[in-house]
Amino acid sequence: MASSLRWLALYLLSHLHLVLAQINASTVFIPEANTIIGINLPDDGSNDINFYITSPEWYQYSAIGFGSSMANSLMLVMYPSADGRSVTVSPRFTDGNTEPTHHPLRITLHPGTELFPAIGQMTANGTCHSCRNLQTTNPASSPAIPPNSPTAPIMFAVGPNSGSFSSDDLDARIRRHVAHGIFNIDVAKSSGSGGVGTPTNITQHVTFPDNDSSLKKSSNKAATAHGILFAIVALAIAPFDTLVAAFLGRRWPKLHIATGSTYFLFVLGAMVPGLLISGEHVLTAKMGTGHQVLGLLTVGVMVVVVGWGFVVRRKAGGQEVESSGGGWMKQVHAWSGRGVWVALLVNNGLGLKLSEQTKLLMLGYAVLAGGVFVFLIPIYFCLWRCTSARKPKTTAEEDHELYNMPSIYDHEARYGYGRQ
Ligand code: HEM
Ligand SMILES: *[C@@H]1O[C@H](CO)[C@@H](O)[C@H](O)[C@H]1NC(C)=O
Ligand SMILES: *[C@@H]1O[C@H](CO)[C@@H](O)[C@H](O)[C@H]1NC(C)=O
Ligand SMILES: *[C@@H]1O[C@H](CO)[C@@H](O)[C@H](O)[C@H]1NC(C)=O
Ligand SMILES: *[C@@H]1O[C@H](CO)[C@@H](O)[C@H](O)[C@H]1NC(C)=O
Repeated sequence: MASSLRWLALYLLSHLHLVLAQINASTVFIPEANTIIGINLPDDGSNDINFYITSPEWYQYSAIGFGSSMANSLMLVMYPSADGRSVTVSPRFTDGNTEPTHHPLRITLHPGTELFPAIGQMTANGTCHSCRNLQTTNPASSPAIPPNSPTAPIMFAVGPNSGSFSSDDLDARIRRHVAHGIFNIDVAKSSGSGGVGTPTNITQHVTFPDNDSSLKKSSNKAATAHGILFAIVALAIAPFDTLVAAFLGRRWPKLHIATGSTYFLFVLGAMVPGLLISGEHVLTAKMGTGHQVLGLLTVGVMVVVVGWGFVVRRKAGGQEVESSGGGWMKQVHAWSGRGVWVALLVNNGLGLKLSEQTKLLMLGYAVLAGGVFVFLIPIYFCLWRCTSARKPKTTAEEDHELYNMPSIYDHEARYGYGRQ
């Protein structure tokens, strides 16, 4: 008993000694992300950087970057390796707030690097060789650790929870982070020969910009706006316009012009943030995913349908009343319009899939989309019955009805009517 206590005391002492004598490294503990980062700049004449990162394994990745903005800064992105036992550390660069791509640099991973499912952490204990004075070809970039500066800014970011992502591919596609932060290491206190040691949850030798050590949520307002606007378009505006066009269009053609224009403007407005965020990821930058292709096609067809609608209107002029039910031109306009709506409904689903939304959200959308159909079909049927029941009416009767339509009475239609 006594001897084991002595051993324990010796063990603790030796570790305390290690901690006190060797750790010339800065450490940051980020409680919100259960992450510890350690940085050491060895004073052996090399330009190496020793780094340590440990984060929950369910983040798609956990990354550090040398600089205070993503553009032209070296980033080290850690994610679980394919075999699920270790991690991959991928050095990367980008020239803006976009997905960084692999840049070949020599990284050595030391003992302590592991994926430890029992505690749910992924950990990298490594060295980035000759990385301190690294500079991209971009003249705007500064070296990873600026020389002759007492402090150096370090970035931190974690990827979304994306199930069981794991890869050995150094250029694996990653998604935009869900949170990020920036801190400044004290260069002198981070320099020494002891490596990073065993970083703990104690923050030392770092300062935070504005003394704010909190983790920042990465906003994704453009993507949210894109999704919500298109959901409103496909679930509310489009079906409303379809109803207006089908059942009130003949009486009040201007009503459909108003709802149709609103619909069209909403589609254009919802598309803009989508186009902006497309440039953020390698996968979507070339506009080649199914969601983007179908989306662009749909909007293209919609432009034609809208233009066609005006052509139909001009041609029909006041004769709209006579040719109730419409000629083939009107039918083409109506059916391609319905096609556009169905395409929008489907493409919203593809968008949710592309952005890897939760099953619950996708199910919710499917239920809503189905619900709109179920809700509309009886209305459609009913209205169709009503209007077709009126069809046998003579032209004179209809004209009479039209004539009695007081306020919203369409000017052009009246003009045409008078001409007949
Ligand atoms: C697919 C990959 C990535 C995309 C699309 C992306 C995109 C963006 C965007 C759009 C911003 C602007 C701020 C915001 O809207 O929240 C941003 C900021 C930031 N990102 Fe990334 N990022 C990616 C990966 C990374 C990685 C690997 C790091 C590594 C540390 C990182 C670190 C940061 C930091 C620290 C900021 C805040 C500083 C600033 O505003 O310049 N990002 N990122
Ligand atoms: C990290 O690697 C260094 C160098 O091999 C080693 O001295 C240190 O103990 C390792 N740290 C951890 C936490 O395993
Ligand atoms: C750590 O830094 C202190 C002063 O900042 C220095 O005296 C010491 O030698 C350094 N330790 C190592 C192992 O380099
Ligand atoms: C840091 O770790 C120690 C030991 O594991 C623990 O007792 C302590 O509560 C932790 N501190 C924080 C702030 O999480
Ligand atoms: C940060 O806090 C320290 C000590 O609490 C203070 O001396 C310093 O002026 C603060 N800096 C900023 C930018 O608020």
